[in-house]
Amino acid sequence: IDELLREGVEGKRVFVRADLNVPLDGTTITDDGRIRAVVPTVKALADAGARVVVASHLGRPKGAPDSAFSLAPAAARLGELLGADVAFATDTVGDSATATVAGLADGQVAVVENLRFNAGETSKDDAERGAFADQLAALADIYVGDGFGAVHRKHASVFDLPARLPHYAGHLIATEVGVLKKLTEDVQRPYAVVLGGSKVSDKLGVIDHLLEKADRILVGGGMVFTFLKAQGHEVGSSLLQEDQIPVVQEYLERGKARGVEFVLPVDILVAPEFPDMKTKAPAHPETVAADAMPAGQMGLDIGPETRKLYASKLADAATVFWNGPMGVFEHPDYAEGTKAVAQALVDSPAFTVVGGGDSAAAVRILGFDEKAFGHISTGGGASLEYLEGKTLPGLAALED
Ligand code: 3PG
Repeated sequence: IDELLREGVEGKRVFVRADLNVPLDGTTITDDGRIRAVVPTVKALADAGARVVVASHLGRPKGAPDSAFSLAPAAARLGELLGADVAFATDTVGDSATATVAGLADGQVAVVENLRFNAGETSKDDAERGAFADQLAALADIYVGDGFGAVHRKHASVFDLPARLPHYAGHLIATEVGVLKKLTEDVQRPYAVVLGGSKVSDKLGVIDHLLEKADRILVGGGMVFTFLKAQGHEVGSSLLQEDQIPVVQEYLERGKARGVEFVLPVDILVAPEFPDMKTKAPAHPETVAADAMPAGQMGLDIGPETRKLYASKLADAATVFWNGPMGVFEHPDYAEGTKAVAQALVDSPAFTVVGGGDSAAAVRILGFDEKAFGHISTGGGASLEYLEGKTLPGLAALED
């Protein structure tokens, strides 16, 4: 984008593909991190006199308008953060978008409605995606890719549109890629990785890749129970992916052979049932040893001894990557594990990266100061796929 700004953008219509896919409670944004992250790019373009057209997806609507997924709250928040009026088009490429963009003065910003209200955005059919990309291209003269959280999606606005316009990477994408390079090239050691979240099947590729790179892998969240089961322990009624047990057993063996230490919980917070997330009523969990989980009990967070163990394993690391909460952190009775890992990252002298999605939201919702971390990524799936060494369509499209 620096090159583009040097060339000058005054009076030009610049399409910024952002990732404003923020968590909403009704129309209230519960974590605006992704909106704040794109402000530097939007502001730089507006300050330089561009007519800025911001577009994004939000949630997973089914290719047609659905008011539950409107970008209107995100557009309003972007306006607050910019300290400027932001126009909002009630469609993406229709009359409202065309008129809104035509009405922009130099230095003004508009947001168009959710890209995924159009079936062409996510279509697997190249022609259908291309046709939608043509409609998007009609709105702008220049494309700036800055939706890092969506670069792993081969979608019209991410992959096909940049081929139709002069294209540049925004500040956010440049920063994110710079950080992820530090986790893949010339990594400072010891390199510790904390992986949580519910499903081990979402993390297979990244574990595979990290077995070649990391020194220790600390496991938490729902996926821990598939690891414990793979070691021969009972896990009560906890989340379990039976079909992944052989895969995990192979990881544990490969880890041993390569000198990669898998660190698993020694104790677990359990309760007979999943907590009520609406009332957040006290759940009265019990702490049990991880190798003696009682039948009928469900594991919902790592226990106090595990918190200490994980903190000690992070204290002397030089590089830490963390993705995925340690437990059901949105409930106060199961937040301590995730808090302890966040605190351990804060206390560690290591270069620390929090990898997107739930863990980034957790850090903010639990009240940590973002500046205490080396980097908080805006991409969950995107940062994992980058670490897997995959080619990301949205980055490839900007590279040529
Ligand atoms: C994310 O939340 O990871 C990105 O915004 C991508 O969203 P998606 O998984 O619905 O494509």
